[in-house]
Amino acid sequence: FTLGAALATPLLATLLSACGRTEAPAAPTASAPTPAAAPAARIYTVGTDAVYAPFEFQNERGEIQGFDIDLVKAVAQRAGIEVKFVNTPWEGMFNTLAQGDRDILVSAITITPERAQTMDFSAPYFDARQLIAVPAASKVQRFADLKPLRVAVQTGTTGDEVVSQLLGKTNPRLKRFESTPLALQELDAGGVDAVVADNGVIAHYVAHHPGARFKSVEDPSFIPEQYGLVVKKGNAALLAQLNDGLVKLLADGGYAEIHTRWFGAAPTALPGSV
Ligand code: ARG
Repeated sequence: FTLGAALATPLLATLLSACGRTEAPAAPTASAPTPAAAPAARIYTVGTDAVYAPFEFQNERGEIQGFDIDLVKAVAQRAGIEVKFVNTPWEGMFNTLAQGDRDILVSAITITPERAQTMDFSAPYFDARQLIAVPAASKVQRFADLKPLRVAVQTGTTGDEVVSQLLGKTNPRLKRFESTPLALQELDAGGVDAVVADNGVIAHYVAHHPGARFKSVEDPSFIPEQYGLVVKKGNAALLAQLNDGLVKLLADGGYAEIHTRWFGAAPTALPGSV
Protein backbone atom coordinates (compact mmCIF):
# COMPACT_ATOMS: atom_id res chain seq x y z
CA PHE A 1 0.00 0.00 0.00
CA THR A 2 1.41 3.34 -1.05
CA LEU A 3 0.05 6.84 -0.99
CA GLY A 4 0.16 6.88 -4.78
CA ALA A 5 -1.98 3.78 -4.97
CA ALA A 6 -4.41 5.23 -2.43
CA LEU A 7 -4.78 8.39 -4.48
CA ALA A 8 -5.65 6.24 -7.48
CA THR A 9 -8.61 4.65 -5.71
CA PRO A 10 -11.93 6.24 -6.68
CA LEU A 11 -13.21 6.57 -3.11
CA LEU A 12 -10.26 8.53 -1.85
CA ALA A 13 -10.21 10.67 -4.98
CA THR A 14 -13.86 11.57 -4.32
CA LEU A 15 -13.12 12.42 -0.70
CA LEU A 16 -10.17 14.56 -1.64
CA SER A 17 -12.04 16.42 -4.32
CA ALA A 18 -14.84 17.03 -1.84
CA CYS A 19 -12.21 18.80 0.20
CA GLY A 20 -11.17 20.76 -2.86
CA ARG A 21 -7.79 19.09 -2.86
CA THR A 22 -7.46 16.74 -5.81
CA GLU A 23 -3.80 17.60 -6.19
CA ALA A 24 -0.94 18.22 -3.88
CA PRO A 25 -1.16 21.80 -2.60
CA ALA A 26 0.92 24.27 -4.54
CA ALA A 27 3.74 25.98 -2.71
CA PRO A 28 2.48 29.28 -1.36
CA THR A 29 3.26 32.26 -3.56
CA ALA A 30 3.08 35.97 -2.85
CA SER A 31 -0.26 36.16 -4.62
CA ALA A 32 -1.81 33.24 -2.74
CA PRO A 33 -4.73 34.42 -0.63
CA THR A 34 -3.94 34.31 3.09
CA PRO A 35 -6.67 33.87 5.68
CA ALA A 36 -7.88 37.19 7.05
CA ALA A 37 -6.13 37.93 10.35
CA ALA A 38 -8.57 37.77 13.26
CA PRO A 39 -8.94 41.21 14.84
CA ALA A 40 -6.72 41.43 17.91
CA ALA A 41 -9.04 40.66 20.84
CA ARG A 42 -9.30 43.57 23.24
CA ILE A 43 -8.46 42.56 26.78
CA TYR A 44 -10.13 44.71 29.42
CA THR A 45 -8.07 45.46 32.52
CA VAL A 46 -9.97 44.92 35.76
CA GLY A 47 -8.65 46.70 38.84
CA THR A 48 -9.30 45.09 42.21
CA ASP A 49 -8.04 45.75 45.75
CA ALA A 50 -7.20 42.13 46.51
CA VAL A 51 -7.08 42.36 50.32
CA TYR A 52 -10.79 41.87 50.82
CA ALA A 53 -11.56 38.20 51.34
CA PRO A 54 -13.79 36.54 50.37
CA PHE A 55 -14.53 39.07 47.61
CA GLU A 56 -10.97 39.55 46.33
CA PHE A 57 -7.70 38.30 47.75
CA GLN A 58 -4.43 36.69 46.68
CA ASN A 59 -3.83 33.01 47.36
CA GLU A 60 -0.44 31.53 48.40
CA ARG A 61 0.68 31.57 44.78
CA GLY A 62 -0.22 35.24 44.40
CA GLU A 63 -3.22 34.54 42.18
CA ILE A 64 -6.17 36.89 42.58
CA GLN A 65 -9.28 34.99 43.65
CA GLY A 66 -12.68 35.51 45.21
CA PHE A 67 -16.39 35.94 44.66
CA ASP A 68 -15.93 39.19 42.72
CA ILE A 69 -13.26 37.61 40.51
CA ASP A 70 -15.41 34.59 39.62
CA LEU A 71 -18.34 36.92 39.03
CA VAL A 72 -16.46 39.16 36.60
CA LYS A 73 -14.96 36.17 34.78
CA ALA A 74 -18.44 34.69 34.33
CA VAL A 75 -19.95 38.02 33.30
CA ALA A 76 -17.15 38.56 30.77
CA GLN A 77 -17.65 35.09 29.33
CA ARG A 78 -21.36 35.75 28.83
CA ALA A 79 -20.71 39.23 27.45
CA GLY A 80 -18.13 37.87 25.02
CA ILE A 81 -15.28 40.01 26.29
CA GLU A 82 -11.83 39.17 27.64
CA VAL A 83 -10.59 40.40 31.00
CA LYS A 84 -7.42 40.36 33.08
CA PHE A 85 -7.13 41.31 36.75
CA VAL A 86 -4.62 43.74 38.20
CA ASN A 87 -4.19 44.24 41.94
CA THR A 88 -4.93 47.92 42.56
CA PRO A 89 -4.84 49.65 45.96
CA TRP A 90 -8.21 51.00 47.10
CA GLU A 91 -6.78 54.47 47.57
CA GLY A 92 -6.49 56.01 44.12
CA MET A 93 -8.39 53.14 42.52
CA PHE A 94 -11.14 55.33 41.11
CA ASN A 95 -8.57 57.62 39.45
CA THR A 96 -7.18 54.74 37.39
CA LEU A 97 -10.35 54.79 35.26
CA ALA A 98 -9.92 58.39 34.18
CA GLN A 99 -6.24 57.77 33.47
CA GLY A 100 -7.17 54.81 31.28
CA ASP A 101 -5.05 52.37 33.33
CA ARG A 102 -8.10 50.28 34.24
CA ASP A 103 -11.29 49.66 32.25
CA ILE A 104 -13.37 47.99 34.95
CA LEU A 105 -13.21 48.03 38.75
CA VAL A 106 -14.52 45.26 40.98
CA SER A 107 -13.89 45.55 44.72
CA ALA A 108 -17.10 45.11 46.64
CA ILE A 109 -17.71 48.72 45.64
CA THR A 110 -20.91 50.15 47.10
CA ILE A 111 -23.10 52.07 44.68
CA THR A 112 -23.55 55.56 46.15
CA PRO A 113 -25.08 58.71 44.63
CA GLU A 114 -21.83 60.66 45.26
CA ARG A 115 -19.68 58.09 43.47
CA ALA A 116 -22.21 57.82 40.63
CA GLN A 117 -21.44 61.45 39.79
CA THR A 118 -17.91 60.60 38.75
CA MET A 119 -18.13 56.96 37.62
CA ASP A 120 -20.71 54.64 36.10
CA PHE A 121 -22.08 51.60 37.94
CA SER A 122 -23.50 48.37 36.58
CA ALA A 123 -26.73 46.94 37.93
CA PRO A 124 -26.30 45.83 41.56
CA TYR A 125 -24.73 42.37 41.90
CA PHE A 126 -24.53 41.93 45.68
CA ASP A 127 -26.41 43.10 48.79
CA ALA A 128 -24.35 44.20 51.77
CA ARG A 129 -24.48 46.31 54.90
CA GLN A 130 -22.09 47.57 57.53
CA LEU A 131 -21.22 45.33 60.46
CA ILE A 132 -19.32 46.03 63.69
CA ALA A 133 -16.43 43.82 64.84
CA VAL A 134 -15.53 43.95 68.54
CA PRO A 135 -13.66 41.70 71.00
CA ALA A 136 -15.88 38.87 72.24
CA ALA A 137 -16.04 40.43 75.73
CA SER A 138 -17.07 43.86 74.46
CA LYS A 139 -20.24 45.47 75.83
CA VAL A 140 -21.03 47.12 72.51
CA GLN A 141 -24.59 46.27 71.50
CA ARG A 142 -25.35 48.86 68.86
CA PHE A 143 -23.63 51.34 66.60
CA ALA A 144 -24.34 54.31 68.93
CA ASP A 145 -22.31 52.55 71.64
CA LEU A 146 -19.18 53.29 69.58
CA LYS A 147 -19.52 57.04 70.16
CA PRO A 148 -16.99 57.27 73.04
CA LEU A 149 -14.74 54.50 71.68
CA ARG A 150 -11.78 54.15 69.28
CA VAL A 151 -12.97 52.83 65.93
CA ALA A 152 -10.95 51.65 62.92
CA VAL A 153 -12.14 51.79 59.31
CA GLN A 154 -10.68 51.49 55.82
CA THR A 155 -10.08 54.99 54.41
CA GLY A 156 -12.69 56.23 51.99
CA THR A 157 -15.10 53.33 52.38
CA THR A 158 -18.75 53.44 53.32
CA GLY A 159 -17.61 52.24 56.77
CA ASP A 160 -15.47 55.39 57.00
CA GLU A 161 -18.53 57.45 56.03
CA VAL A 162 -20.85 56.07 58.73
CA VAL A 163 -18.24 56.27 61.48
CA SER A 164 -17.31 59.81 60.36
CA GLN A 165 -20.96 60.74 60.89
CA LEU A 166 -21.04 59.23 64.36
CA LEU A 167 -17.67 60.40 65.70
CA GLY A 168 -16.98 63.43 63.52
CA LYS A 169 -14.69 63.35 60.50
CA THR A 170 -11.60 64.65 62.30
CA ASN A 171 -12.07 62.83 65.61
CA PRO A 172 -8.68 61.36 66.63
CA ARG A 173 -10.47 58.23 67.91
CA LEU A 174 -11.44 57.47 64.31
CA LYS A 175 -8.44 55.54 62.95
CA ARG A 176 -8.20 55.12 59.19
CA PHE A 177 -6.28 52.29 57.53
CA GLU A 178 -5.46 51.67 53.91
CA SER A 179 -7.01 48.20 54.03
CA THR A 180 -9.68 46.48 56.11
CA PRO A 181 -7.32 43.67 57.26
CA LEU A 182 -5.00 46.35 58.72
CA ALA A 183 -7.95 47.84 60.61
CA LEU A 184 -8.85 44.37 61.93
CA GLN A 185 -5.22 43.73 62.95
CA GLU A 186 -5.35 46.92 64.98
CA LEU A 187 -8.43 45.55 66.76
CA ASP A 188 -6.55 42.31 67.37
CA ALA A 189 -3.63 44.28 68.81
CA GLY A 190 -5.94 46.24 71.12
CA GLY A 191 -5.24 49.59 69.46
CA VAL A 192 -8.93 50.19 68.80
CA ASP A 193 -12.21 49.02 70.34
CA ALA A 194 -14.12 48.25 67.16
CA VAL A 195 -13.95 48.02 63.37
CA VAL A 196 -16.83 48.97 61.08
CA ALA A 197 -16.75 47.44 57.60
CA ASP A 198 -18.81 45.43 55.13
CA ASN A 199 -20.63 42.46 56.67
CA GLY A 200 -19.18 39.81 54.33
CA VAL A 201 -15.60 40.75 55.15
CA ILE A 202 -16.15 41.03 58.92
CA ALA A 203 -18.02 37.71 59.00
CA HIS A 204 -15.21 36.05 57.02
CA TYR A 205 -12.54 37.47 59.34
CA VAL A 206 -14.37 36.49 62.53
CA ALA A 207 -14.92 32.96 61.19
CA HIS A 208 -11.26 32.54 60.16
CA HIS A 209 -9.64 34.04 63.27
CA PRO A 210 -11.07 32.03 66.16
CA GLY A 211 -7.92 32.79 68.17
CA ALA A 212 -8.66 36.51 68.07
CA ARG A 213 -12.03 35.90 69.73
CA PHE A 214 -13.97 38.62 67.95
CA LYS A 215 -17.70 38.87 67.59
CA SER A 216 -19.79 40.86 65.19
CA VAL A 217 -22.61 43.22 66.12
CA GLU A 218 -25.41 44.19 63.76
CA ASP A 219 -27.29 47.45 63.83
CA PRO A 220 -30.60 48.01 62.05
CA SER A 221 -29.74 51.68 61.50
CA PHE A 222 -27.15 50.79 58.83
CA ILE A 223 -28.70 51.41 55.45
CA PRO A 224 -28.63 48.52 52.94
CA GLU A 225 -25.81 48.77 50.39
CA GLN A 226 -25.35 47.21 46.98
CA TYR A 227 -22.17 46.44 45.11
CA GLY A 228 -21.76 47.36 41.46
CA LEU A 229 -19.09 46.95 38.79
CA VAL A 230 -17.56 50.28 37.83
CA VAL A 231 -16.49 51.75 34.48
CA LYS A 232 -15.26 55.18 33.47
CA LYS A 233 -18.06 57.76 33.39
CA GLY A 234 -19.61 57.70 29.93
CA ASN A 235 -18.28 54.28 28.84
CA ALA A 236 -21.80 53.22 27.89
CA ALA A 237 -20.72 50.48 25.48
CA LEU A 238 -18.69 48.55 28.06
CA LEU A 239 -21.33 49.13 30.74
CA ALA A 240 -24.02 47.68 28.46
CA GLN A 241 -21.87 44.59 27.86
CA LEU A 242 -21.34 44.08 31.59
CA ASN A 243 -25.04 44.53 32.35
CA ASP A 244 -25.92 42.13 29.56
CA GLY A 245 -23.49 39.57 31.01
CA LEU A 246 -24.92 40.07 34.51
CA VAL A 247 -28.49 39.51 33.31
CA LYS A 248 -27.44 36.29 31.58
CA LEU A 249 -25.48 35.13 34.63
CA LEU A 250 -28.48 35.65 36.91
CA ALA A 251 -30.81 33.91 34.46
CA ASP A 252 -28.66 30.85 33.69
CA GLY A 253 -27.92 29.91 37.29
CA GLY A 254 -24.26 30.92 37.15
CA TYR A 255 -24.77 33.57 39.78
CA ALA A 256 -26.29 31.15 42.29
CA GLU A 257 -23.43 28.73 41.64
CA ILE A 258 -20.73 31.33 42.29
CA HIS A 259 -22.60 32.59 45.36
CA THR A 260 -22.79 29.04 46.72
CA ARG A 261 -19.07 28.50 46.01
CA TRP A 262 -18.07 31.45 48.20
CA PHE A 263 -20.89 31.78 50.73
CA GLY A 264 -22.03 28.19 51.08
CA ALA A 265 -25.60 28.80 49.90
CA ALA A 266 -27.53 30.32 47.05
CA PRO A 267 -28.69 33.89 47.66
CA THR A 268 -32.10 34.25 49.28
CA ALA A 269 -32.99 37.19 47.03
CA LEU A 270 -31.71 38.63 43.79
CA PRO A 271 -29.22 41.44 44.40
CA GLY A 272 -30.87 44.82 44.57
CA SER A 273 -34.28 43.47 45.47
CA VAL A 274 -34.09 44.44 49.14
N1 ARG B 1 -18.22 48.46 50.14
C1 ARG B 1 -17.34 49.41 50.72
C2 ARG B 1 -17.25 50.65 49.88
O1 ARG B 1 -17.58 50.62 48.75
C3 ARG B 1 -15.93 48.87 50.95
C4 ARG B 1 -15.27 48.28 49.77
C5 ARG B 1 -13.80 48.02 49.99
N2 ARG B 1 -13.32 47.07 49.02
C6 ARG B 1 -12.06 46.67 48.93
N3 ARG B 1 -11.77 45.72 48.08
N4 ARG B 1 -11.16 47.18 49.69
O2 ARG B 1 -16.83 51.67 50.34
